[in-house]
Amino acid sequence: MGESTPAPALFGRHFLEVTDFNAEQLMRLLRLAEYLKVQGRGEQRTLLRDRTLAMLFEKPSLRTRVSFEVAMTQLGGDVLFAQGQEFMVGTRETPEDAARTLSRYVDAIVIRTHEHEPLQRFARAASVPVINALSSRAHPCQALADVLTIREKFGEIAGLRIAYVGDARNNVAASLAEAAITLGATVQFACPPTHRPSESYLAKLDALGERSGGSARAFANAVRAVRGADVVYTDVWTSMGEERYRERNDAMLRPYAVTEELFGYARPTAVFMHCLPAHRGEETVAAVIDGPRSVVFDQAENRMHAQKALLLALLTELKGIPV
Ligand code: CP
Ligand code: NVA
Repeated sequence: MGESTPAPALFGRHFLEVTDFNAEQLMRLLRLAEYLKVQGRGEQRTLLRDRTLAMLFEKPSLRTRVSFEVAMTQLGGDVLFAQGQEFMVGTRETPEDAARTLSRYVDAIVIRTHEHEPLQRFARAASVPVINALSSRAHPCQALADVLTIREKFGEIAGLRIAYVGDARNNVAASLAEAAITLGATVQFACPPTHRPSESYLAKLDALGERSGGSARAFANAVRAVRGADVVYTDVWTSMGEERYRERNDAMLRPYAVTEELFGYARPTAVFMHCLPAHRGEETVAAVIDGPRSVVFDQAENRMHAQKALLLALLTELKGIPV
């Protein structure tokens, strides 16, 4: 990393997927988030003064909604929030018309959607930055906070082994893998064939790691994926909007629960990660998620710091910020 062409500025860009940014840009965001995390809040109060962020959510949220609202407020900006029937991308009007209209009112738009495609259409038509707050395909803001947390715990991401256990086709798995591999980690998925990323997607992940040394592998055997891992990550078995598959998912993913026994195959220094919300007794157990090596609330806190960095980078030219 670092020997490539200089990273284009992040100002004015959209963030729909992790791969919208290259390794240098991701590292810039991480360094900025680390700086903001230790900086006094008082010094941040005017950084986004007079800016307004619209947050439009088709699905429920605790962390994403509150962390964005608090981030924007602490940076001196304003937030408006609409959820559910008030805003469903592409139902009352085309995504393009909604995007062009909102771009006349606000400085950036954070959207949580069911489908990814209307979000892409929305972003293409918007003239202000659009941020994906979770779609069926990706959860890039979660991944930013995840790699920030991993850096905090291990200092470096390159060379680490991250086991992702469970639904390896979901949004959180995809964005985590894209970020971690771009930054040089090896990601080992543990999943049944029904929840395994396609071969073409695994090849795409490997290509992301070409420069960084990162790579992806998928195992049907959970122990093989977790053995020697530095990080063991899981997420719910059934994502929002996929409830019709719940019974099948419960049956297929049961052998992939992160129990104390499975976590025991990871390195003694390994940490447990989960984007939350979690279901104790399903994808993991209380002894692991509430145990001493769980960093799930650091992840949750880091959502706010990572998104402060993202908002500043997309909305300003970062003048006067020394990272
Ligand atoms: N991790 C996460 O995105 O949580 P919420 O669904 O509560 O926003
Ligand atoms: N994969 C989960 C993540 C929730 C933050 C979902 O999409 O529901």
